[in-house]
Amino acid sequence: PEFDLAIRGGTVVTASDTVRADVGVRGGRIVAVAETIADAARVIDASGLLVLPGGIDSHVHIAQESGPGIVMADDFASATRAAAAGGNTCVMPFAVQPRGGSLRGAVDAYRARAEGQCHVDVAIHMIISDPTEAVLGQELPALVADGYTSFKVFMTYDDLVLNDRQLLDVFHVARRQGARVMVHAEGYDAIRYLSDRLERAGETAPYGHALSRPEVVEREAAHRAISHAELIDLPIVIVHVSGREATEQIAWAQARGLKIRAETCPQYLTLTAEDMKGLGPDDGSFDPMAGAKYVCSPPTRDVASQAAVWSGIRRGIFDVVSSDHCPFRYDDPQGKLNPRGRTSFRWIPNGIPGIETRLPVFFSEGVSTGRISLNQFAALTATNHAKLYGLYPRKGSIAPGFDADLTLWDPNRRETIRQANLHHGSDYTPWEGFSVTGWPVVTIAGGQVIAEDGRVLSEPGRGRVLDRAVDPAERRDA
Ligand code: URP
Ligand code: ZN
Ligand code: ZN
Ligand code: ZN
Repeated sequence: PEFDLAIRGGTVVTASDTVRADVGVRGGRIVAVAETIADAARVIDASGLLVLPGGIDSHVHIAQESGPGIVMADDFASATRAAAAGGNTCVMPFAVQPRGGSLRGAVDAYRARAEGQCHVDVAIHMIISDPTEAVLGQELPALVADGYTSFKVFMTYDDLVLNDRQLLDVFHVARRQGARVMVHAEGYDAIRYLSDRLERAGETAPYGHALSRPEVVEREAAHRAISHAELIDLPIVIVHVSGREATEQIAWAQARGLKIRAETCPQYLTLTAEDMKGLGPDDGSFDPMAGAKYVCSPPTRDVASQAAVWSGIRRGIFDVVSSDHCPFRYDDPQGKLNPRGRTSFRWIPNGIPGIETRLPVFFSEGVSTGRISLNQFAALTATNHAKLYGLYPRKGSIAPGFDADLTLWDPNRRETIRQANLHHGSDYTPWEGFSVTGWPVVTIAGGQVIAEDGRVLSEPGRGRVLDRAVDPAERRDA
Protein backbone atom coordinates (compact mmCIF):
# COMPACT_ATOMS: atom_id res chain seq x y z
CA PRO A 1 0.00 0.00 0.00
CA GLU A 2 0.99 3.58 -0.63
CA PHE A 3 0.34 4.64 2.99
CA ASP A 4 1.12 3.01 6.34
CA LEU A 5 -1.93 4.58 7.87
CA ALA A 6 -5.00 6.46 6.71
CA ILE A 7 -7.23 8.43 9.05
CA ARG A 8 -10.52 8.53 7.22
CA GLY A 9 -13.68 10.53 7.45
CA GLY A 10 -12.66 13.02 10.15
CA THR A 11 -12.72 16.79 10.30
CA VAL A 12 -9.17 18.10 10.18
CA VAL A 13 -8.57 21.13 12.37
CA THR A 14 -5.46 23.30 12.23
CA ALA A 15 -4.72 26.77 13.57
CA SER A 16 -6.08 28.19 10.32
CA ASP A 17 -8.60 25.74 8.82
CA THR A 18 -11.36 23.27 9.55
CA VAL A 19 -11.85 20.87 6.63
CA ARG A 20 -13.35 17.45 5.94
CA ALA A 21 -10.32 15.44 4.88
CA ASP A 22 -8.45 12.14 5.13
CA VAL A 23 -4.88 12.08 6.39
CA GLY A 24 -2.26 9.75 4.91
CA VAL A 25 0.82 8.73 6.87
CA ARG A 26 4.04 7.12 5.70
CA GLY A 27 7.29 6.61 7.64
CA GLY A 28 5.92 8.38 10.70
CA ARG A 29 5.14 11.57 8.79
CA ILE A 30 2.06 13.07 7.26
CA VAL A 31 2.39 12.72 3.50
CA ALA A 32 -1.08 13.62 2.31
CA VAL A 33 -4.18 15.50 3.36
CA ALA A 34 -6.81 14.79 0.74
CA GLU A 35 -10.50 14.26 0.11
CA THR A 36 -9.96 10.50 -0.01
CA ILE A 37 -7.05 8.30 0.85
CA ALA A 38 -7.62 4.72 -0.18
CA ASP A 39 -4.55 2.59 -0.31
CA ALA A 40 -3.36 2.16 3.29
CA ALA A 41 -2.06 -0.75 5.38
CA ARG A 42 -4.12 0.42 8.34
CA VAL A 43 -7.25 2.54 8.40
CA ILE A 44 -8.66 4.42 11.36
CA ASP A 45 -12.25 5.50 11.02
CA ALA A 46 -12.49 9.05 12.29
CA SER A 47 -16.03 9.79 11.18
CA GLY A 48 -17.74 12.00 13.71
CA LEU A 49 -14.36 12.90 15.17
CA LEU A 50 -12.08 15.91 14.96
CA VAL A 51 -8.49 15.36 13.85
CA LEU A 52 -6.31 17.85 15.72
CA PRO A 53 -2.55 18.34 15.90
CA GLY A 54 -1.25 16.27 18.82
CA GLY A 55 -1.13 18.35 21.96
CA ILE A 56 2.20 19.98 22.73
CA ASP A 57 2.68 20.94 26.37
CA SER A 58 5.62 23.33 26.50
CA HIS A 59 5.69 23.72 30.28
CA VAL A 60 5.92 20.59 32.42
CA HIS A 61 8.14 19.56 35.32
CA ILE A 62 9.27 15.95 35.38
CA ALA A 63 11.59 14.26 37.90
CA GLN A 64 12.84 17.66 38.92
CA GLU A 65 14.90 18.15 42.08
CA SER A 66 12.57 19.90 44.50
CA GLY A 67 14.47 20.55 47.72
CA PRO A 68 15.38 18.43 50.74
CA GLY A 69 12.93 15.64 51.54
CA ILE A 70 10.59 16.47 48.64
CA VAL A 71 10.15 14.15 45.67
CA MET A 72 8.29 14.89 42.48
CA ALA A 73 5.54 12.36 41.76
CA ASP A 74 6.38 11.63 38.12
CA ASP A 75 9.36 10.20 36.31
CA PHE A 76 9.63 10.48 32.54
CA ALA A 77 7.78 7.23 31.97
CA SER A 78 4.74 8.08 34.10
CA ALA A 79 4.51 11.72 33.04
CA THR A 80 4.67 10.92 29.33
CA ARG A 81 2.24 8.02 29.75
CA ALA A 82 -0.23 10.44 31.32
CA ALA A 83 0.53 12.96 28.57
CA ALA A 84 -0.30 10.39 25.89
CA ALA A 85 -3.56 9.40 27.58
CA GLY A 86 -4.50 13.09 27.68
CA GLY A 87 -4.04 13.66 23.95
CA ASN A 88 -0.45 14.94 23.92
CA THR A 89 2.34 13.90 21.57
CA CYS A 90 5.15 16.15 22.79
CA VAL A 91 6.05 17.71 26.14
CA MET A 92 8.76 20.10 27.21
CA PRO A 93 10.24 19.56 30.69
CA PHE A 94 13.07 21.43 32.38
CA ALA A 95 16.66 20.62 33.28
CA VAL A 96 17.54 22.68 36.35
CA GLN A 97 21.01 24.03 36.92
CA PRO A 98 21.80 23.71 40.64
CA ARG A 99 23.41 26.79 42.20
CA GLY A 100 27.15 26.34 42.03
CA GLY A 101 26.73 23.58 39.47
CA SER A 102 27.16 23.28 35.76
CA LEU A 103 24.33 23.88 33.32
CA ARG A 104 25.75 21.27 30.95
CA GLY A 105 25.84 18.75 33.77
CA ALA A 106 22.17 19.37 34.51
CA VAL A 107 21.16 19.02 30.87
CA ASP A 108 23.08 15.75 30.55
CA ALA A 109 21.53 14.39 33.76
CA TYR A 110 17.93 15.17 32.76
CA ARG A 111 18.50 13.90 29.25
CA ALA A 112 19.77 10.62 30.71
CA ARG A 113 16.63 10.41 32.87
CA ALA A 114 14.48 10.85 29.75
CA GLU A 115 16.29 8.58 27.27
CA GLY A 116 14.54 5.26 26.77
CA GLN A 117 11.68 6.19 29.14
CA CYS A 118 9.30 8.39 27.18
CA HIS A 119 5.98 7.56 25.51
CA VAL A 120 5.87 10.88 23.66
CA ASP A 121 8.63 13.07 22.25
CA VAL A 122 10.25 15.49 24.65
CA ALA A 123 12.31 18.62 24.11
CA ILE A 124 14.21 19.87 27.12
CA HIS A 125 14.27 23.49 28.30
CA MET A 126 16.92 24.64 30.74
CA ILE A 127 16.48 26.56 34.00
CA ILE A 128 19.35 28.94 34.73
CA SER A 129 19.79 29.50 38.47
CA ASP A 130 23.41 30.62 38.52
CA PRO A 131 24.48 32.78 35.55
CA THR A 132 28.21 32.76 36.19
CA GLU A 133 30.70 33.98 33.61
CA ALA A 134 31.34 30.37 32.60
CA VAL A 135 27.62 29.75 32.10
CA LEU A 136 26.99 32.94 30.14
CA GLY A 137 30.27 32.89 28.21
CA GLN A 138 30.66 29.21 27.35
CA GLU A 139 28.06 26.73 28.59
CA LEU A 140 24.92 28.51 27.46
CA PRO A 141 26.09 29.39 23.93
CA ALA A 142 27.38 25.83 23.44
CA LEU A 143 24.13 24.30 24.72
CA VAL A 144 22.01 26.49 22.45
CA ALA A 145 24.16 25.36 19.52
CA ASP A 146 23.64 21.75 20.65
CA GLY A 147 19.87 22.06 20.38
CA TYR A 148 18.78 23.29 23.83
CA THR A 149 17.39 26.53 22.53
CA SER A 150 15.12 27.70 25.35
CA PHE A 151 15.37 28.32 29.05
CA LYS A 152 13.44 29.64 32.01
CA VAL A 153 14.50 32.17 34.59
CA PHE A 154 12.86 32.89 37.93
CA MET A 155 12.22 36.16 39.75
CA THR A 156 11.39 34.28 42.95
CA TYR A 157 12.25 31.09 44.93
CA ASP A 158 15.30 30.95 47.24
CA ASP A 159 17.18 28.45 45.09
CA LEU A 160 16.36 29.94 41.69
CA VAL A 161 15.78 33.70 41.94
CA LEU A 162 17.87 35.98 39.73
CA ASN A 163 18.33 39.65 40.56
CA ASP A 164 17.75 42.37 37.97
CA ARG A 165 21.37 42.58 36.85
CA GLN A 166 21.46 38.81 36.39
CA LEU A 167 18.25 38.90 34.39
CA LEU A 168 19.68 41.60 32.13
CA ASP A 169 22.93 39.67 31.62
CA VAL A 170 21.03 36.48 30.79
CA PHE A 171 18.68 38.33 28.41
CA HIS A 172 21.71 39.80 26.65
CA VAL A 173 23.20 36.36 26.00
CA ALA A 174 19.80 35.02 24.89
CA ARG A 175 19.53 37.79 22.32
CA ARG A 176 22.98 37.06 20.94
CA GLN A 177 22.32 33.30 20.75
CA GLY A 178 18.72 33.54 19.55
CA ALA A 179 17.49 31.56 22.55
CA ARG A 180 13.88 31.67 23.76
CA VAL A 181 13.49 32.91 27.35
CA MET A 182 10.60 32.03 29.65
CA VAL A 183 10.14 34.20 32.73
CA HIS A 184 8.50 33.25 36.04
CA ALA A 185 7.33 36.69 37.12
CA GLU A 186 6.69 36.99 40.84
CA GLY A 187 8.64 39.37 43.08
CA TYR A 188 10.92 37.61 45.55
CA ASP A 189 11.27 40.30 48.20
CA ALA A 190 7.58 41.14 48.36
CA ILE A 191 6.72 37.46 48.80
CA ARG A 192 9.27 37.09 51.57
CA TYR A 193 8.00 40.20 53.32
CA LEU A 194 4.40 39.01 53.18
CA SER A 195 5.26 35.43 54.16
CA ASP A 196 7.20 36.61 57.22
CA ARG A 197 4.27 38.77 58.33
CA LEU A 198 1.72 35.99 57.79
CA GLU A 199 3.80 33.52 59.77
CA ARG A 200 4.22 35.98 62.64
CA ALA A 201 0.44 36.44 62.68
CA GLY A 202 -0.04 32.66 62.83
CA GLU A 203 -1.53 32.44 59.31
CA THR A 204 0.40 29.30 58.44
CA ALA A 205 -2.28 27.13 56.79
CA PRO A 206 -2.14 26.50 53.00
CA TYR A 207 -4.41 29.46 52.27
CA GLY A 208 -1.56 31.70 53.49
CA HIS A 209 0.14 30.79 50.21
CA ALA A 210 -2.47 32.81 48.32
CA LEU A 211 -2.16 35.74 50.74
CA SER A 212 1.62 35.75 50.40
CA ARG A 213 1.51 36.12 46.60
CA PRO A 214 -1.25 38.59 45.70
CA GLU A 215 -1.71 39.75 42.12
CA VAL A 216 0.29 42.94 42.71
CA VAL A 217 3.39 40.81 43.31
CA GLU A 218 2.97 39.17 39.91
CA ARG A 219 2.01 42.44 38.21
CA GLU A 220 5.14 44.19 39.47
CA ALA A 221 7.45 41.38 38.39
CA ALA A 222 5.75 41.08 34.99
CA HIS A 223 6.25 44.79 34.43
CA ARG A 224 9.88 44.55 35.52
CA ALA A 225 10.53 41.62 33.18
CA ILE A 226 8.85 43.53 30.34
CA SER A 227 11.05 46.56 31.04
CA HIS A 228 14.20 44.45 30.99
CA ALA A 229 13.09 42.78 27.76
CA GLU A 230 12.46 46.21 26.21
CA LEU A 231 15.90 47.41 27.28
CA ILE A 232 17.61 44.42 25.68
CA ASP A 233 15.12 44.24 22.77
CA LEU A 234 14.50 40.56 23.48
CA PRO A 235 11.25 38.69 22.91
CA ILE A 236 10.32 36.87 26.14
CA VAL A 237 7.52 34.57 27.21
CA ILE A 238 5.85 35.39 30.52
CA VAL A 239 4.69 32.02 31.73
CA HIS A 240 1.77 30.87 33.88
CA VAL A 241 -0.03 34.23 33.89
CA SER A 242 -2.62 33.88 36.61
CA GLY A 243 -4.96 36.81 36.51
CA ARG A 244 -6.18 40.22 35.49
CA GLU A 245 -3.25 42.32 36.61
CA ALA A 246 -0.40 40.53 34.85
CA THR A 247 -2.63 40.15 31.77
CA GLU A 248 -3.08 43.93 31.74
CA GLN A 249 0.69 44.48 31.84
CA ILE A 250 1.19 42.14 28.90
CA ALA A 251 -1.62 43.73 26.89
CA TRP A 252 -0.05 47.14 27.58
CA ALA A 253 3.37 45.92 26.44
CA GLN A 254 1.99 44.32 23.28
CA ALA A 255 0.07 47.50 22.45
CA ARG A 256 3.38 49.37 22.62
CA GLY A 257 4.82 46.96 20.07
CA LEU A 258 7.05 45.10 22.52
CA LYS A 259 7.72 41.44 21.74
CA ILE A 260 6.11 40.02 24.85
CA ARG A 261 4.49 36.60 24.57
CA ALA A 262 2.36 34.96 27.21
CA GLU A 263 1.29 31.59 28.55
CA THR A 264 -1.54 30.68 30.87
CA CYS A 265 -2.80 27.37 32.27
CA PRO A 266 -6.17 25.67 32.88
CA GLN A 267 -5.90 26.18 36.65
CA TYR A 268 -6.11 29.96 36.20
CA LEU A 269 -9.25 29.52 34.09
CA THR A 270 -11.12 27.05 36.28
CA LEU A 271 -9.87 27.12 39.91
CA THR A 272 -9.78 29.89 42.51
CA ALA A 273 -7.81 30.71 45.66
CA GLU A 274 -10.81 29.51 47.67
CA ASP A 275 -9.75 25.96 46.86
CA MET A 276 -6.71 26.51 49.09
CA LYS A 277 -9.00 26.97 52.11
CA GLY A 278 -9.65 23.23 52.28
CA LEU A 279 -13.42 23.44 52.39
CA GLY A 280 -15.14 20.18 51.50
CA PRO A 281 -17.40 20.02 48.43
CA ASP A 282 -20.81 20.54 50.04
CA ASP A 283 -20.91 18.28 53.06
CA GLY A 284 -19.53 20.89 55.46
CA SER A 285 -16.25 19.01 55.86
CA PHE A 286 -13.23 21.20 56.49
CA ASP A 287 -9.57 20.30 56.48
CA PRO A 288 -7.28 23.29 56.03
CA MET A 289 -4.38 21.04 54.96
CA ALA A 290 -6.44 19.75 52.00
CA GLY A 291 -5.88 23.21 50.54
CA ALA A 292 -2.27 22.10 49.94
CA LYS A 293 -3.51 20.13 46.92
CA TYR A 294 -4.09 23.44 45.14
CA VAL A 295 -0.89 25.25 46.12
CA CYS A 296 0.88 26.42 42.97
CA SER A 297 2.70 29.56 41.95
CA PRO A 298 1.44 32.00 40.96
CA PRO A 299 -1.62 31.03 42.99
CA THR A 300 -5.05 30.74 41.46
CA ARG A 301 -7.15 33.91 41.87
CA ASP A 302 -10.90 34.59 41.65
CA VAL A 303 -13.66 34.36 39.05
CA ALA A 304 -13.12 37.96 37.92
CA SER A 305 -9.50 37.12 37.16
CA GLN A 306 -10.54 33.96 35.34
CA ALA A 307 -12.76 36.13 33.14
CA ALA A 308 -9.89 38.56 32.50
CA VAL A 309 -7.62 35.73 31.38
CA TRP A 310 -10.34 34.27 29.12
CA SER A 311 -10.77 37.71 27.63
CA GLY A 312 -7.00 37.88 27.07
CA ILE A 313 -7.13 34.52 25.31
CA ARG A 314 -9.92 35.66 23.03
CA ARG A 315 -8.08 38.90 22.23
CA GLY A 316 -4.92 37.03 21.24
CA ILE A 317 -2.80 38.25 24.15
CA PHE A 318 -1.89 34.67 25.02
CA ASP A 319 0.06 32.44 22.65
CA VAL A 320 0.01 29.20 24.57
CA VAL A 321 -1.96 27.28 27.19
CA SER A 322 0.30 24.84 29.03
CA SER A 323 -0.28 22.67 32.07
CA ASP A 324 2.68 23.70 34.26
CA HIS A 325 2.37 20.07 35.38
CA CYS A 326 4.38 19.97 38.60
CA PRO A 327 3.17 16.88 40.41
CA PHE A 328 3.55 16.03 44.07
CA ARG A 329 1.69 13.42 45.99
CA TYR A 330 -0.72 14.81 48.58
CA ASP A 331 -0.83 12.18 51.29
CA ASP A 332 2.91 11.70 51.45
CA PRO A 333 5.69 12.92 53.78
CA GLN A 334 7.75 13.63 50.63
CA GLY A 335 4.89 15.57 49.05
CA LYS A 336 2.30 18.15 49.99
CA LEU A 337 1.90 16.84 53.56
CA ASN A 338 5.59 16.89 54.39
CA PRO A 339 6.36 17.59 58.07
CA ARG A 340 7.54 21.17 57.51
CA GLY A 341 4.59 21.90 55.24
CA ARG A 342 2.27 21.22 58.16
CA THR A 343 4.01 24.02 60.08
CA SER A 344 3.77 26.65 57.32
CA PHE A 345 2.49 27.12 53.77
CA ARG A 346 6.05 28.26 52.99
CA TRP A 347 7.21 24.64 52.95
CA ILE A 348 4.41 23.14 50.87
CA PRO A 349 5.94 22.20 47.52
CA ASN A 350 4.49 24.43 44.81
CA GLY A 351 2.77 22.86 41.86
CA ILE A 352 -0.18 20.78 40.74
CA PRO A 353 -0.55 17.86 38.34
CA GLY A 354 -2.24 18.67 35.02
CA ILE A 355 -0.46 17.01 32.10
CA GLU A 356 -3.37 14.62 31.42
CA THR A 357 -6.23 17.01 32.12
CA ARG A 358 -4.99 20.16 30.33
CA LEU A 359 -6.55 19.40 26.96
CA PRO A 360 -9.97 18.10 28.05
CA VAL A 361 -10.44 20.88 30.62
CA PHE A 362 -9.40 23.60 28.16
CA PHE A 363 -11.38 22.09 25.27
CA SER A 364 -14.50 21.86 27.38
CA GLU A 365 -14.26 25.30 28.97
CA GLY A 366 -12.94 26.94 25.80
CA VAL A 367 -14.43 25.26 22.73
CA SER A 368 -17.53 23.54 24.09
CA THR A 369 -18.71 26.72 25.84
CA GLY A 370 -18.07 28.75 22.66
CA ARG A 371 -15.42 31.00 24.19
CA ILE A 372 -12.83 30.09 21.53
CA SER A 373 -12.87 28.46 18.12
CA LEU A 374 -11.47 25.05 17.29
CA ASN A 375 -8.72 26.79 15.35
CA GLN A 376 -7.77 28.87 18.38
CA PHE A 377 -7.70 25.67 20.40
CA ALA A 378 -5.26 24.08 17.93
CA ALA A 379 -3.08 27.19 18.00
CA LEU A 380 -3.07 27.53 21.80
CA THR A 381 -2.46 23.85 22.55
CA ALA A 382 -0.09 22.82 19.75
CA THR A 383 0.83 25.12 16.86
CA ASN A 384 2.04 28.09 18.88
CA HIS A 385 4.05 25.87 21.23
CA ALA A 386 5.91 24.45 18.23
CA LYS A 387 6.45 27.91 16.75
CA LEU A 388 7.66 29.51 19.98
CA TYR A 389 10.11 26.76 20.87
CA GLY A 390 11.68 25.72 17.59
CA LEU A 391 9.63 22.64 16.72
CA TYR A 392 7.86 24.15 13.70
CA PRO A 393 7.33 23.04 10.93
CA ARG A 394 8.19 19.60 12.24
CA LYS A 395 5.37 19.54 14.78
CA GLY A 396 2.25 21.56 15.52
CA SER A 397 0.13 21.25 12.40
CA ILE A 398 -1.45 18.81 9.96
CA ALA A 399 0.13 19.05 6.52
CA PRO A 400 2.57 17.02 4.42
CA GLY A 401 5.99 16.91 6.04
CA PHE A 402 4.87 17.24 9.64
CA ASP A 403 5.36 14.40 12.11
CA ALA A 404 2.21 12.25 12.18
CA ASP A 405 1.29 13.48 15.67
CA LEU A 406 -2.49 13.66 15.83
CA THR A 407 -5.25 13.52 18.37
CA LEU A 408 -8.73 12.36 17.49
CA TRP A 409 -11.38 14.17 19.50
CA ASP A 410 -14.97 13.32 20.17
CA PRO A 411 -16.34 16.84 20.64
CA ASN A 412 -19.60 15.61 22.17
CA ARG A 413 -18.38 13.00 24.59
CA ARG A 414 -19.10 13.81 28.20
CA GLU A 415 -16.75 12.65 30.91
CA THR A 416 -16.10 13.32 34.55
CA ILE A 417 -12.46 13.67 35.54
CA ARG A 418 -11.46 11.14 38.19
CA GLN A 419 -8.08 10.45 39.74
CA ALA A 420 -8.89 6.76 39.46
CA ASN A 421 -8.74 7.04 35.66
CA LEU A 422 -5.54 9.06 35.38
CA HIS A 423 -2.04 7.80 34.64
CA HIS A 424 0.20 10.27 36.44
CA GLY A 425 2.19 9.56 39.59
CA SER A 426 0.27 11.94 41.81
CA ASP A 427 -2.40 10.61 44.18
CA TYR A 428 -5.01 13.27 43.37
CA THR A 429 -6.20 15.65 40.69
CA PRO A 430 -7.32 19.23 41.40
CA TRP A 431 -10.13 18.56 38.88
CA GLU A 432 -11.67 15.59 40.72
CA GLY A 433 -15.35 15.44 39.74
CA PHE A 434 -14.99 18.14 37.05
CA SER A 435 -17.37 17.50 34.14
CA VAL A 436 -16.17 18.04 30.62
CA THR A 437 -17.66 17.92 27.14
CA GLY A 438 -15.18 16.81 24.49
CA TRP A 439 -12.61 14.08 24.92
CA PRO A 440 -9.38 12.95 23.24
CA VAL A 441 -10.22 9.38 22.22
CA VAL A 442 -7.15 8.38 20.17
CA THR A 443 -3.59 9.73 20.39
CA ILE A 444 -1.32 9.04 17.41
CA ALA A 445 2.40 9.81 17.59
CA GLY A 446 4.78 9.26 14.69
CA GLY A 447 1.93 7.45 12.93
CA GLN A 448 1.46 4.96 15.79
CA VAL A 449 -1.60 4.75 18.02
CA ILE A 450 -0.13 5.38 21.48
CA ALA A 451 -3.33 5.80 23.46
CA GLU A 452 -6.93 4.82 22.89
CA ASP A 453 -9.84 5.40 25.22
CA GLY A 454 -7.69 5.97 28.26
CA ARG A 455 -5.41 2.99 27.61
CA VAL A 456 -1.79 3.71 26.78
CA LEU A 457 -0.54 1.29 24.13
CA SER A 458 3.04 2.46 23.54
CA GLU A 459 6.20 1.25 25.23
CA PRO A 460 8.41 3.66 27.15
CA GLY A 461 11.28 4.64 24.86
CA ARG A 462 9.08 5.15 21.80
CA GLY A 463 9.29 8.90 22.35
CA ARG A 464 12.56 10.60 21.46
CA VAL A 465 14.48 13.46 23.02
CA LEU A 466 14.45 16.16 20.37
CA ASP A 467 17.11 18.68 19.49
CA ARG A 468 16.07 22.04 18.16
CA ALA A 469 17.76 24.77 16.16
CA VAL A 470 17.45 28.52 16.55
CA ASP A 471 16.12 30.65 13.76
CA PRO A 472 19.26 32.49 12.53
CA ALA A 473 17.18 35.66 12.23
CA GLU A 474 16.71 35.58 16.01
CA ARG A 475 20.45 35.64 16.62
CA ARG A 476 21.17 39.34 16.96
CA ASP A 477 24.29 40.90 18.35
CA ALA A 478 23.57 42.86 21.45
O1 URP B 1 3.85 26.10 41.44
C1 URP B 1 4.44 25.86 40.42
N1 URP B 1 4.07 26.34 39.29
N2 URP B 1 5.51 25.08 40.45
C2 URP B 1 6.25 24.75 39.33
C3 URP B 1 7.42 25.60 39.16
C4 URP B 1 7.09 26.81 38.37
O2 URP B 1 7.34 27.88 38.84
O3 URP B 1 6.60 26.70 37.27
ZN1 ZN C 1 7.25 29.08 37.20
ZN1 ZN D 1 6.37 25.56 35.95
ZN1 ZN E 1 -2.59 11.49 34.74
